[in-house]
Amino acid sequence: MSIIEKAIGKLGQGKQEAPRTPIIVSAAEAQKKPPEAKAAVAMPVQAAAVDDVPAAPAVNTQPRQTSKRVNIDLERLHNLGMVTPDGGRTPIAEEFRLIKRPLIEKAFDRSSGIASGHGNLVMVTSSLPGEGKTFCAVNLAISIAMEMDHTVLLVDADVARPSVPHFLGLKNDAGLMDVLLDDKLDLADVMLRTNIDSLTFLPAGKSHRHATELLASQSMSRLLDEIARRYPDRIVIFDSPPVLLTTESRVLASQMGQIVMVVEAEKTTQHAVKAVLRQIGSQDNVNLIYNKSRGFSGEEYYGRYYN
Ligand SMILES: Nc1ncnc2c1ncn2[C@@H]1O[C@H](COP(=O)(O)OP(=O)(O)O)[C@@H](O)[C@H]1O
Ligand SMILES: [Mg+2]
Repeated sequence: MSIIEKAIGKLGQGKQEAPRTPIIVSAAEAQKKPPEAKAAVAMPVQAAAVDDVPAAPAVNTQPRQTSKRVNIDLERLHNLGMVTPDGGRTPIAEEFRLIKRPLIEKAFDRSSGIASGHGNLVMVTSSLPGEGKTFCAVNLAISIAMEMDHTVLLVDADVARPSVPHFLGLKNDAGLMDVLLDDKLDLADVMLRTNIDSLTFLPAGKSHRHATELLASQSMSRLLDEIARRYPDRIVIFDSPPVLLTTESRVLASQMGQIVMVVEAEKTTQHAVKAVLRQIGSQDNVNLIYNKSRGFSGEEYYGRYYN
């Protein structure tokens, strides 16, 4: 049995109780699974064709200076139990220290086997709403931004239910949707510099009735290419929609260098995890985060699930 299969086998076995301590465990070990695991998880699903989309403007590739600056409410983040630059060595900060390491290494490793050249594009997803995608995406982004050598772009790509601003204490400004809809807008016009110097935020932008189709459109593909090319030294973290309720998440996943799948302790079912792994395709770049666990030590969970 593969590592992923063993981990999946443990999922959903506990009692259904509300999560207490926010504990997250990296499942980066999943990348070391034996060859027989491939059949279990490497079954990419073609995304549905997207026809009903407004004419896609060409992406403006002229770089401009990102000008607007916003203040992330660090006290709010701290009160929400999230990673903050001055928050010290909290359990959550320690967990994300472990989680980010393999992602950073792979992002800039030309021998990593990520063919697209998008190794620095990291998508955080899960099967259903409420499992902790946004919580993990924001924590991951801040944790990486706190490193001396790395700058981060956090993208709110859950355009139907943007919730990064809620965590950061910001309002949903112009962003991704606006760039996709208006060819005069440049990415730099809507990217927001923040009071965490090495963290830039791209909001979801205005709501649009074709928002989800736009996310799965050719213009989004071009935009992703542009982001990867224009900011090759940045790690770009995408908060994204749930895979089992949307098709655009699968399309996005196919263009990401790395995928982080959030699994909610005692809630996400084996069936859901397997379905997501089938739908997002390539197993080589998928990491699992075991979220909302009540244990404390990451090692305890590596032991329980991956040894
Ligand atoms: N590890 C955690 N510890 C405590 N609360 C968490 C944790 N992960 C997520 N939450 C909370 O669970 C709720 C759903 O999380 P969210 O990230 O918004 O889910 P999703 O983006 O998958 O819909 C939020 O209120 C969030 O603060
Ligand atoms: Mg969310």
